[in-house]
Amino acid sequence: MTHVNKINPRRAGKRPGNVHLSLNVNGEDLQVSVAPCKTLLEVLREDLVLTGTKHGCELGECGACTVLVDGQPLLSCLLLALECEGLKIETIEGMAGPGQLHPLQRSFAQHGGSQCGYCTGGMLMTAKALLADQPQPDRAQIREALSGNLCRCTGYQQIIDSIEAAAETMADTATQLTGAGESA
Ligand code: FES
Ligand code: FES
Repeated sequence: MTHVNKINPRRAGKRPGNVHLSLNVNGEDLQVSVAPCKTLLEVLREDLVLTGTKHGCELGECGACTVLVDGQPLLSCLLLALECEGLKIETIEGMAGPGQLHPLQRSFAQHGGSQCGYCTGGMLMTAKALLADQPQPDRAQIREALSGNLCRCTGYQQIIDSIEAAAETMADTATQLTGAGESA
């Protein structure tokens, strides 16, 4: 589906010097007209009003701005939006399914993986990419994957607990689905 971004028409309008970009965000093709120097983080937050991706250090050090680009967790503060044309961008807003949270989101809520929440979107994006690549990581692998995401609240243990529990839930669900498929 292609449509002109109507969320913020004042910012989406063409201006001299702007570049016109087609971005695929959370499965939707969106058109924006932005200054070529804008980062993906700025375009997501300011032009597309997807403010779940957080603006932390803007220096590539905190991980709060992590999004998935073609499935890879990347720091949106270090990417120009125009570098992302033709790539699939996923933000925290696209994580939950229709009417239900992603197992990682449920697990963070159940295990205290989120406190102030500022780091949580970036943590969840990183964790999602980890579990896609490595469905049952051990705690050391989870720690390694999260090494670029800083949290000033939790002490990290609850975040690691949350990801470990979500991995188990997702593995159980996959086993049940496989079993159901075989007995059908
Ligand atoms: S805002 Fe991008 S790494 Fe901190
Ligand atoms: S929950 Fe507050 S920074 Fe992580």
